[in-house]
Amino acid sequence: MTLTSAPLSPRMGSEVKIGKAELVSGQYAGEIRALLDERGVLLFRGLAPDDNELRTIARTLGDLRIGASKRGADGKVLTEGDEGLLKVSLDPEVNPDYARFLIGNHLWHMDGTYEEIPPLATLFTPFKLSKTGGDTCFANTYAAYEDLSDGDKAELEKLKVVHTMQAALFPAKRDCTPEEFAVWHSYPQRSHPLVWHHRSGRKSLVLSTSGAYVEGMHPAESHDLLQRLMAHATQDKYVYRHKWQLGDLVIWDNTGAMHRVLPFDKESGREFHRCTLNGEEPITAPSQEPAL
Ligand SMILES: [Fe+2]
Repeated sequence: MTLTSAPLSPRMGSEVKIGKAELVSGQYAGEIRALLDERGVLLFRGLAPDDNELRTIARTLGDLRIGASKRGADGKVLTEGDEGLLKVSLDPEVNPDYARFLIGNHLWHMDGTYEEIPPLATLFTPFKLSKTGGDTCFANTYAAYEDLSDGDKAELEKLKVVHTMQAALFPAKRDCTPEEFAVWHSYPQRSHPLVWHHRSGRKSLVLSTSGAYVEGMHPAESHDLLQRLMAHATQDKYVYRHKWQLGDLVIWDNTGAMHRVLPFDKESGREFHRCTLNGEEPITAPSQEPAL
């Protein structure tokens, strides 16, 4: 038996028809991984996995992230939730440590660009929705790369971009205090190739609001290039916009997509539970490929 799926938009996302028991069993894990790589976002409607089921599904698909932490100048250590299960909410009572970083979720980004090996994928299921707003959008960075001209591809494949926490968060909170900015600034920054040549042979753009500047390029040219690429990659034709229903499970490929949440009522108590799969390969530029 093979999985049944239907596209959610021409170039991004598929809805998968599968029962919860089959999904939890892992018997289709190989097919789901292949489809995730191909379609970027997978939607499972009406499954309503509880926390343990979500962890189990995650483990069938990859290496569930447990205990990863971030540390800022204020000494705060953020662990990846409860045994790999993180509650995503703006309510400090639900998640006091993460709430202050979630403002960046409103802007197009990849997760974990400050890491050498960014996370592979995220599993996300809603527990409480806002009555207004809160759709999540996903942009296919494979497709955005594929549609570039050959000349652009050749130029971009030579470039590296420095990613920083302050670049990711300052646009989301321009009235930050100097102390907040200092905490963001204290996080590690990392340089990644602008074009990722994946082990699969496919290539994608590595774009995110965390992308502060292109190495070795004049700041004005760097700013204009990153703005132009972000506008290119987030055109409607590359984007799937998901309107959430309770019971949904969405899995997205963090290595070939950006994501963002649209504004919603901060007092709504909107809450999602999230599992993250550890990455399996560093971002490698075409020029860094080992000779065969
Ligand atoms: Fe994110």
